[in-house]
Amino acid sequence: MAPLHFLLPILSLGSTAFARHDAFQAKCTSFVDTINLPNVHVNFASYIPGGTNLSLADNPPSCNTASQSVSADICRIAMAVKTSNSSEITLEAWFPREYTGRFLSTGNGGLSGCIQYYDLAYTSGLGFATVGANNGHNGTSGEPFYQHPEVLEDFAYRSIHTGVLIGKKLTKQFYEEGFDKSYYLGCSTGGRQGFKSIQKYPNDFDGVVAGAPAFNFINLLSWSAHFYPITGSPTSDSYLSPAMWKVAHEEILRQCDGIDGARDGIIEDPSLCNPVVETIICKPGMPSTTCLSGAQAKTVREVLSPLYGVNGTLLYPRMQPGSELLAAPIMYNGQPFAYSQDWFRYVVYNDPNWDGTQFNVHDTAVSLKQNPYNIQTWDADLSSFQNAGGKVLTYHGLQDQLISSENSKLYYARVAEAMDMPPAQLDDFYRFFQISGMGHCGGGDGAYGIGNGLETYSGKSPESNVLMAMVQWVEKGIAPETVRGAKFANSAGSSVQYSRQHCRYPRRNVFKGPGNYTDEAAWQCV
Ligand SMILES: *[C@@H]1O[C@H](CO)[C@@H](O)[C@H](O)[C@H]1NC(C)=O
Ligand SMILES: *[C@@H]1O[C@H](CO)[C@@H](O)[C@H](O)[C@H]1NC(C)=O
Ligand SMILES: *[C@@H]1O[C@H](CO)[C@@H](O)[C@H](O)[C@H]1NC(C)=O
Ligand SMILES: *[C@@H]1O[C@H](CO)[C@@H](O)[C@H](O)[C@H]1NC(C)=O
Ligand SMILES: *[C@@H]1O[C@H](CO)[C@@H](O)[C@H](O)[C@H]1NC(C)=O
Repeated sequence: MAPLHFLLPILSLGSTAFARHDAFQAKCTSFVDTINLPNVHVNFASYIPGGTNLSLADNPPSCNTASQSVSADICRIAMAVKTSNSSEITLEAWFPREYTGRFLSTGNGGLSGCIQYYDLAYTSGLGFATVGANNGHNGTSGEPFYQHPEVLEDFAYRSIHTGVLIGKKLTKQFYEEGFDKSYYLGCSTGGRQGFKSIQKYPNDFDGVVAGAPAFNFINLLSWSAHFYPITGSPTSDSYLSPAMWKVAHEEILRQCDGIDGARDGIIEDPSLCNPVVETIICKPGMPSTTCLSGAQAKTVREVLSPLYGVNGTLLYPRMQPGSELLAAPIMYNGQPFAYSQDWFRYVVYNDPNWDGTQFNVHDTAVSLKQNPYNIQTWDADLSSFQNAGGKVLTYHGLQDQLISSENSKLYYARVAEAMDMPPAQLDDFYRFFQISGMGHCGGGDGAYGIGNGLETYSGKSPESNVLMAMVQWVEKGIAPETVRGAKFANSAGSSVQYSRQHCRYPRRNVFKGPGNYTDEAAWQCV
């Protein structure tokens, strides 16, 4: 038997931990009874100890998340909030025990319909009192919009804003000290939601991190719809298999990879890349696995061209070159793009049988004219947000296969023009970073580990983490000059092969040497 004095410290440690844990837990479970907000119905509140693999049995199957690892001790509060007589959002607040005095809202993706539990876990783990909502409907389909304008209104702007209003009240109620600063983190549709807040509710956030924004939303959905008519079905002459896209990708890299000074498989500035695709048309006798037919070369040229409307106006810029391998299985797969087809079926035409294979340029005009609830999210005058002292950090992967990074540059130009400001002035409150080698919100061939989520996390120093960079900007006035990304050996969290500092737009990265492209000091923003 161990002597008593060996056991004592263990016992007292245990009981201290238990007492602290228990106080937070008790506060969590009794908190429910103190919530009395109009339109808010609390489903449950539960204490989740850090290290839990949380089962999400109620999460809609199409959201494809049946569990979530939770790293920090949190109080989880699940609610239903009425947003109109015929709509409601499902809202969760995750309040961490180790709280940093910061409030944060997460966003959504695609046309969903899915609480992003991985983001709730990420930011509550970093000490933010976090909220996340289901965007007014459940699951990834656009069908709930059908003849339900209130549900669409939640999706366009109201779900996030409602979650913020309620989340801030609950945060003040839960923590005696309230909160100091308010943040937003989202990508894709989440990026659009961030810009919607900036444009429509400029006081909702002190700092917004908005990635790969799905703004210019109506035209984005027309753009994603227009790939099918270009590629045709898999039996069509104009279609390229993923293997053929690899041939095209390699030719594009051959022409463009070296423009930035380094042949590393990564294009640092796709704007400088204007590939001549005819070079890969087969010569007589060449094996057809190594070259394209004329019809296929035309497909490559057309997907790398902008989308113009019926009268020749630019609706959406081109897909950036370099994303071919990621885009092939989802955008160029010989099927209508599901989100676009849903949008035309359930919003534009109110016709569940509308067939995405029939899409043509006239559909773009019908759709843009509607712009329900200004879901376009394309307003360019950000002076209210600027005057409120807000900061926005936006980033876009340069291998984004779903939303072209060229559209983020177009928005940047529109803001500069509308506000009469050159980049040096926009930098005071609006900074845009191009992330080479990053796909849609993550993944890709390059240094995409920038900490915009759990899948891209590589430490929490502000230099390597876009969210913590925003915190430092808002709270200390130190604005990010570059964003460091990690190139992971395998998936996120695996060893880091190299780092690269991504430049603030309109600068671009150039390899100056000496040394290897893996050396971040050998690169310069010019
Ligand atoms: C959590 O639980 C689910 C289902 O029980 C399992 O599939 C998953 O691998 C678990 N995750 C972790 C990180 O243990
Ligand atoms: C969404 O699913 C939740 C269960 O997770 C349910 O309580 C809620 O009513 C559903 N919302 C809608 C709009 O169907
Ligand atoms: C709900 O319906 C009632 C009665 O039709 C109406 O007066 C009220 O304004 C509606 N509330 C909302 C939030 O739409
Ligand atoms: C051209 O089309 C765009 C998009 O449909 C529309 O906004 C614009 O007003 C049109 N311009 C003219 C001159 O008709
Ligand atoms: C640079 O580093 C990569 C990865 O370690 C290596 O494959 C490549 O050969 C190096 N290039 C030069 C020029 O040293």
